[in-house]
Amino acid sequence: MLLDGKTAVITGAGRGIGRAIALAFAREGCDIAVAARSESEIEETRRLAAETGRRVVSVRCDVADLASVTAMAQAVLAELGRVDILVNNAGYGRFRPFVELTDEEFTRTIDVNLTGAFRCIKAFLPGMMAQKSGRIINVSSVSGLKAIDRQSAYCASKHGLNGLSKTLALELRPHGIAVHALCPGGVTTRLSEEEMPDRDKTDWMMPEDIAHVALFLASMGPRATTDVIHVRRFGGEPL
Ligand SMILES: NC(=O)c1ccc[n+]([C@@H]2O[C@H](COP(=O)([O-])OP(=O)(O)OC[C@H]3O[C@@H](n4cnc5c(N)ncnc54)[C@H](OP(=O)(O)O)[C@@H]3O)[C@@H](O)[C@H]2O)c1
Repeated sequence: MLLDGKTAVITGAGRGIGRAIALAFAREGCDIAVAARSESEIEETRRLAAETGRRVVSVRCDVADLASVTAMAQAVLAELGRVDILVNNAGYGRFRPFVELTDEEFTRTIDVNLTGAFRCIKAFLPGMMAQKSGRIINVSSVSGLKAIDRQSAYCASKHGLNGLSKTLALELRPHGIAVHALCPGGVTTRLSEEEMPDRDKTDWMMPEDIAHVALFLASMGPRATTDVIHVRRFGGEPL
């Protein structure tokens, strides 16, 4: 199995892309911790992942709250002992014209998508540095690579996440820690359904398509890495 003996934390794992990544990792032999705010959703992910026979813990966490992230990391490390892979997947978006965007919506988007990842990396980095190995997968977006109408806050947060990822890939290289920005195009999830209800999604990707790429990143060998990876709908436009 690709991740036999490894441990991973996946944020935003209660549904959508995060749940698919959690299940894919567990099926490949990884012990996992799943985190999000909705207890019932992370508990369902925990139940599904536990069917693989792997150790699975669910921890409630709001990545927009530093104390909550600190408590989550303590609980995860107490349960799993060490963390090899951190997947920063928790995400939020309000897609609307810039003139209608409120201060609260803009600030929250940055706080969850960018600062949330920063907080989780800070929480797990000391352990990765001590063990001189680790892998951080930041679930970004095609919105981190180009301008998209009605997504000014979301694009700003994901461009920021890509900048953070690339800089950390450089800074953490001497510590044996790899950092990836995974940038999907359209995926059918609650987020895309709520924010883009009018779009025809018949050929959009499924969460499992992104989980497949996350698994590829998580299982790369020690001699090769990739920094920013763009995954698009087959029918979508190349960058
Ligand atoms: N769907 C797409 O087309 C698409 C494309 C590119 C990138 N992405 C990215 O993929 C990631 C997953 O999104 P998704 O499409 O799978 O959306 P989703 O189905 O709405 O899932 C989002 C997950 O993030 C969690 N979350 C949201 N705010 C959180 C917070 N403050 N603290 C902790 N967890 C939080 C949610 O749980 P709670 O609400 O219970 O906390 C949920 O588990 C996001 O980073 C998104 O930007 C999505």
